[in-house]
Amino acid sequence: MDSKLKTLLYFLVIIIIQSYISHSKSIIKGLPGYPGDLPFKFETGYIGVGIKEEVQLFYYFFESTRNPTQDPLIFYIPGGPGGSALVTIFHENIGPFNITWDIGVDNTNLKLNPNAWNQMANIIFLDIPAGTGFSYAKSNEGWISSDSILATQAIEFLKKFLIGHPKFVKSPLYIAGISYIGIVVPKVTLELYEGNERGDRPTLNIQGYILISPLTHKFHDFNSRIEYAHRMALISDHIYKSAIAHCQGNYVNLDSADFFCAHSLKSYEECTSHISFSNILEPFCDENDPAQDCDIDVKKTLTKWANSAVVQQTLNIRKGTIEKWESRNNTIHYRLGKNDTFCYSYDIFSSFLYHKKLSYKKCQALIISGDHDMTFPYVGVEQWISSLDLPVEVPWKPFFVDGQVGGYEMKYARSEYSLTFATVKGAGHAVPQYKPKESIVLTQKWLSSQTYSSDDCTE
Ligand SMILES: *[C@@H]1O[C@H](CO)[C@@H](O)[C@H](O)[C@H]1NC(C)=O
Ligand SMILES: *[C@@H]1O[C@H](CO)[C@@H](O)[C@H](O)[C@H]1NC(C)=O
Ligand SMILES: *[C@@H]1O[C@H](CO)[C@@H](O)[C@H](O)[C@H]1NC(C)=O
Repeated sequence: MDSKLKTLLYFLVIIIIQSYISHSKSIIKGLPGYPGDLPFKFETGYIGVGIKEEVQLFYYFFESTRNPTQDPLIFYIPGGPGGSALVTIFHENIGPFNITWDIGVDNTNLKLNPNAWNQMANIIFLDIPAGTGFSYAKSNEGWISSDSILATQAIEFLKKFLIGHPKFVKSPLYIAGISYIGIVVPKVTLELYEGNERGDRPTLNIQGYILISPLTHKFHDFNSRIEYAHRMALISDHIYKSAIAHCQGNYVNLDSADFFCAHSLKSYEECTSHISFSNILEPFCDENDPAQDCDIDVKKTLTKWANSAVVQQTLNIRKGTIEKWESRNNTIHYRLGKNDTFCYSYDIFSSFLYHKKLSYKKCQALIISGDHDMTFPYVGVEQWISSLDLPVEVPWKPFFVDGQVGGYEMKYARSEYSLTFATVKGAGHAVPQYKPKESIVLTQKWLSSQTYSSDDCTE
């Protein structure tokens, strides 16, 4: 077919699809707690996914403050599952705001985050699956989800979003996520490549993926905690050696442990059970102890703010669609040893094979770990990355921020694939939350080192 005709047909199809997609979007000019107009373009909206669009996914979209048409587009999926996008936007220092509080919505102050990622990219943050943040379902089946359903819905969302925002269809696209979503992001990314190869429309300019402290394997990543605890001096050489000698490499399934292994693991438990896993240097709070209040102030403030009528009206939240906004939905949220729940099936055990398949594509990956994170320690991340068997292009070396070591990075590359692995010094689980500047400097450097071919210029 003649290429002009092809383009014409393509846009016709887009117009037709657009006219029947129920896509509601609003431009938000100002927010309660922020004085004056926002200095960037901020849009919220719902996009329906599923056969009858019974799942209504709520998103926050921030245009780049630099050059929206040339900057990349990052599609960011928060962790959990069930973690709300607002936490990423307000607390993890990726979004453009920084919230301070004098307890109470009226006294909430929003400031601009000096290290916001929308200074280098356009970013979409998504509440997914239904039951997360402001996302909901219109039918009973719509509430049911799983790792695979989440991946499928994320892809459908993204395609519909881009059809509704043709300005960004050609933007270099990166899929990003944190923590548990490391199980899902590689699948989403791979399926976008495969969709392009099949000739699915619209063709997406997928370039790669960014993961922060990802979960990759539901056994190895938990198992790596013991080696991490040893490296960080939380357990002695003796405890570690005895566990190695007696546990056959399995430090997770206590049930199958023999007497000597159980004994070493008991010592390990005792040494680490009062350690804060999301940052081993922070004070520990016992979430199972009803006498302790572990909700940090910023989440309390955010909960008040997000549940206030004026905020919901400003964000254009549909009335009566959710009972209460929560920073994370604990019914869906995954923990080691947790079984499937009535509404969510944790059906992907490992995302390693997706990484492996991506390593044969024209794809760039950035994997960031906080070296003080014991949730999914860098030790386990380093192990699966090295089992991808990729040639090292740049060996492990420090990177600098303001003249100081911000952390360490190394780069693997083969043909058109590359993977950069970085640890951020002193950071916990949600890396940018602890080290906002180091994180943005690192990511910015990585993004700006990418070169994009302009083989298709039908703007
Ligand atoms: C606000 O931003 C600063 C600088 O990025 C950061 O140090 C601080 O932790 C942020 N506050 C919150 C509540 O995230
Ligand atoms: C949490 O998710 C479940 C399952 O989707 C849903 O039924 C429930 O309403 C959600 N909780 C909140 C507070 O949104
Ligand atoms: C999970 O399922 C297994 C097998 O059905 C059961 O033995 C175990 O107690 C369950 N765990 C939880 C936390 O419910």
